[in-house]
Amino acid sequence: MKIITSSEKETKQLASAITEFIDEGTTIVLIGDLGAGKTTFVKGMAQTLNIKKTIKSPTFTLMNTYKIKHYGLKRFCHIDAYRINEESLKGIGALDFLQDNNTLSVIEWGNKVKKLIPKNSWFITIKHKTENKREFTIKLPK
Ligand SMILES: Nc1ncnc2c1ncn2[C@@H]1O[C@H](COP(=O)(O)OP(=O)(O)O)[C@@H](O)[C@H]1O
Ligand SMILES: [Mg+2]
Repeated sequence: MKIITSSEKETKQLASAITEFIDEGTTIVLIGDLGAGKTTFVKGMAQTLNIKKTIKSPTFTLMNTYKIKHYGLKRFCHIDAYRINEESLKGIGALDFLQDNNTLSVIEWGNKVKKLIPKNSWFITIKHKTENKREFTIKLPK
């Protein structure tokens, strides 16, 4: 499925709409270059999840978690895998979240830690088309 957004706001709306439907623990893998809009997408997810804290890119913390109440989901886990490999991701305890049915996880640069991505994940690839246009290719879990 391909969708084009023409502004940061539209990307947040797309992310919010997708998140509305997610009612169980799963992982969203975001793939795209720097500035593609991965963190912007996560901010849109946070709106639907009613997260009041500002979403900050976990570039240095690697992983941020937030308490949520959304269907049966209790936790939102935001990972940035740009600087890490599979071993260090395991080392920070990320598997506990990725495999937890009550946690919705999103991984920026998830393509860098392929071996740890659960089977039922969503894959969202973002292509930078023009200054404000982004093309989203969404692959639903099988
Ligand atoms: N359609 C769009 N969707 C998302 N971001 C956009 C769009 N158009 C412009 N932008 C801008 O692109 C940048 C995306 O940054 P960010 O979300 O941090 O990217 P990433 O996390 O992929 O590195 C932001 O400055 C945002 O305002
Ligand atoms: Mg980012």
